[in-house]
Amino acid sequence: MLSLGILTRDAKTWPMLTVQENDRLTRVGAGTPMGELQRRYWHPIGATEELETAFTKRVRLLGEDLVLYRDRNGKLGLIGEFCPHRHASFYNGIPDVEGIRCSYHGWKFNGAGACVDQPNEPAESTFKDKVSVPGYPVEAMGGMIFAYLGPLPAPLLPRWDGFDNPKAIRTIGWCHVPCNWLQIMENSVDPVHTEWQHGKYQEFIEEQRGVKYAISKHHLKIDFAEFELGLYKRRLLEGASEDSDDWRIGHPVLFPNILAVGSGGGKLWKMQTYQMRVPIDDENTMHYWYTSYDVPAGHDVPSKLRERIPYFQVRYLDDNGDNIHDNIDAQDVMAWISQGKISDRSTEALGTTDRGVILYRKMLEREMKKVEAGEDPMNVFRTADASLEFHLERDKAHFSDGFENLQYRQYARWSPWFRDLCDLFASYNAKLLREALPAFPLEHGAATTGE
Ligand code: FES
Ligand SMILES: [Fe+2]
Repeated sequence: MLSLGILTRDAKTWPMLTVQENDRLTRVGAGTPMGELQRRYWHPIGATEELETAFTKRVRLLGEDLVLYRDRNGKLGLIGEFCPHRHASFYNGIPDVEGIRCSYHGWKFNGAGACVDQPNEPAESTFKDKVSVPGYPVEAMGGMIFAYLGPLPAPLLPRWDGFDNPKAIRTIGWCHVPCNWLQIMENSVDPVHTEWQHGKYQEFIEEQRGVKYAISKHHLKIDFAEFELGLYKRRLLEGASEDSDDWRIGHPVLFPNILAVGSGGGKLWKMQTYQMRVPIDDENTMHYWYTSYDVPAGHDVPSKLRERIPYFQVRYLDDNGDNIHDNIDAQDVMAWISQGKISDRSTEALGTTDRGVILYRKMLEREMKKVEAGEDPMNVFRTADASLEFHLERDKAHFSDGFENLQYRQYARWSPWFRDLCDLFASYNAKLLREALPAFPLEHGAATTGE
């Protein structure tokens, strides 16, 4: 059995952080150690779908206020929000050919942030050459838009498995979480919380409704291991065998801020979700759930599910402003916010189950030091031959109560495709049983974690 030893408050056995160390790990503004590390990566800033119906979108990323726009050529640009002339917002801008004009006096800026036209200044003036705003590279992939705020040249945008698969059904959920990004990521290297926050707590909620419910699964063993793309976590749950996917394979944090999970498609569908935690600023995080539902060859998918990649809000509060208690993702958000805007790690009391948290913090510190030394940190890719392969569990014990229940207990409850996905999955299942069709090949389930 897993022992939750009580540690005495001794810095040798209990790796407390100082206030300064906590600041290093959590603050993301330009010039801060973590802000500079985060600026070495591409971050999602929204969905292609949003810019199909609008020309501009406000974006706050790593403490910077920006405007994403679509110009008259359909090209995306990302520039500082406020016009350097007299600070009107480009959110109200007028798209132009290769750039955007401030709507107040018409000054035009290109995607690099350079001012290229000042229509009411003298024709011979070179004043525009002295005026600029920040301008950053943007790239679209699989229905998402990504931005890079770091030093140029920008690295390659990692094409993680599932994003660029037009054969798959893909959805994007989003949620603005009003707390620092790190407590969200630390949740991903803390397997035991599922036993409580999504198990015993859920049972308590049902108990208050007069329903007897047993969903919590005790952790017999947990394990963590670094690998070339990040950090794997594995769990052995009571009642499961050492051959279970959860223990044999597990799933990774892709450094620094993506959790990848194999989400319950079983042998029928290859489902994978990327939970991407993007710092808006020190006290706010944009959380994205990117899921691809990969259907076996020969199975039909209604064209509407392939033609659109929907972008939808994931809720954690009900219409009265109270926490939603019966949803895994809402339960997580509730816990993260309850830790405070920026959790004070100088006063926490880590136990033996927090060793994944400690390992992750050490990796962050090590990679920040690389950036401080002028080196690229891990997962900065500059050549196309870099391997982005990793393995994911297929049969998760947590997700054994059926596809529809799983969807309802997660962010997918709010997906516009919720009903379609449940119906489609049920029809495939029936077809499989009826015709003994081959299920999706288990190429991901067949390997180990790569440890
Ligand atoms: S404030 Fe933008 S052009 Fe004047
Ligand atoms: Fe959770």
